[in-house]
Amino acid sequence: MNSRALFLPLILLVSRRTAADSAEEITWTYSGLVGQSDWSQYFPECGGSSQSPVDVTTTQTKYDPSLVPVTPLGYSQHGNQPFTLHNNGHTVVIELPDWMGLQGLRWLFTAVQLHLHWGNGGPGHGGSEHTINGRSADAELHVVHYNSELYPNMSAAMTQRDGLAVLGILIETGEETNPAFNNIINYMSRVRHADQKTFIPAFDVQSLLPKSLGRYYRYNGSLTTPPCYQSVVWTVFHERVQISKEQLLKMETILYSSKAGDSHRMLLQDNYRATQPLNHRVVFASFSAESGQELSSGEVTAIVIGVMCGCVGLAVIVRFIVKTIRFFKLLHRETVVVNSSSSSWDVLHNNRPAPMPRVKDQEKSNNKKQDFALSTTSEAERKDPSASPRTEP
Ligand SMILES: *[C@@H]1O[C@H](CO)[C@@H](O)[C@H](O)[C@H]1NC(C)=O
Ligand SMILES: *[C@@H]1O[C@H](CO)[C@@H](O)[C@H](O)[C@H]1NC(C)=O
Repeated sequence: MNSRALFLPLILLVSRRTAADSAEEITWTYSGLVGQSDWSQYFPECGGSSQSPVDVTTTQTKYDPSLVPVTPLGYSQHGNQPFTLHNNGHTVVIELPDWMGLQGLRWLFTAVQLHLHWGNGGPGHGGSEHTINGRSADAELHVVHYNSELYPNMSAAMTQRDGLAVLGILIETGEETNPAFNNIINYMSRVRHADQKTFIPAFDVQSLLPKSLGRYYRYNGSLTTPPCYQSVVWTVFHERVQISKEQLLKMETILYSSKAGDSHRMLLQDNYRATQPLNHRVVFASFSAESGQELSSGEVTAIVIGVMCGCVGLAVIVRFIVKTIRFFKLLHRETVVVNSSSSSWDVLHNNRPAPMPRVKDQEKSNNKKQDFALSTTSEAERKDPSASPRTEP
């Protein structure tokens, strides 16, 4: 009993030590052996409470007006030195020169590398790490920076709070080829196997980013791969970038996670982590919800058509009202004309002399005569039909 009580903590100590020591050596994967659900066994931070990626529920984001647009520094000054493209068995990585950086956060951050996450089998099959209102994009680009104001290098910063700043760019597919992404995709065939590296021509890194850098989501999270350090200030842009279906398919089917000498070739696919619980974290938005509904081209078309239909409808209604008004005006004028021209009563009325008792009497007698005449004719008329049956038998 005594020996067992001593032995157990020793085993735990040993196993903990070996896990920590060999952490770098462990070949983690996205599915299969040491898949996502097993990461936390070997990399304890992967089981932490501030993990990435997350699902951004836009109605639960908090608008923070102090979130200014992020400003990439030197992204377009790529220089003449080639970039290094590297298949690390988990993704394709481009190392970035240290004059590239990021402004607009609390500290100055220096660029380290960029890489991609994708799915398999083309559009609509997921592939992004962050999701918006439960929906995945087709792929996601990450540009990684470290806090160069507080820390001397990436390895020192990556374990510290506020040590890293990562830009997340959601990628969707459309009809048009995105030439900026060909600066990467066109060279991926040179690093098909894990651990392969190649030099590629330097290019404008900013051209990979969306146009609007002012609208984004911001939260505190982690690296999305082991060791999952919870050191990342995340910026996920609201605007997405588009690549063609062919570009996506090439990206998803060209790399292996296996090494060149391995007998089993393993395609490098679905290299995205499932979304992690927010655990009371707040996702801030740099834009308010009302103005935040950026529209897709389909929605814009629908709105344009809707507005056009509305305008046509309004024109028809206005025309109808104008016509109706004109009709009534015309009708009114016609009745006036009818009244003034044909009505002797009107003329009589107007020309009627000032009432004089005698004239009035005369008129009365005239009227009586008229009445009499009328009644007589009517009597005659009335008598006529009754007379006719008699004559007809
Ligand atoms: C990073 O900085 C730390 C602390 O100054 C230092 O010990 C380490 O050697 C540096 N690592 C690299 C890769 O430069
Ligand atoms: C991230 O954490 C830091 C330190 O705890 C805090 O000051 C900051 O407001 C947090 N940022 C976000 C976006 O939650």
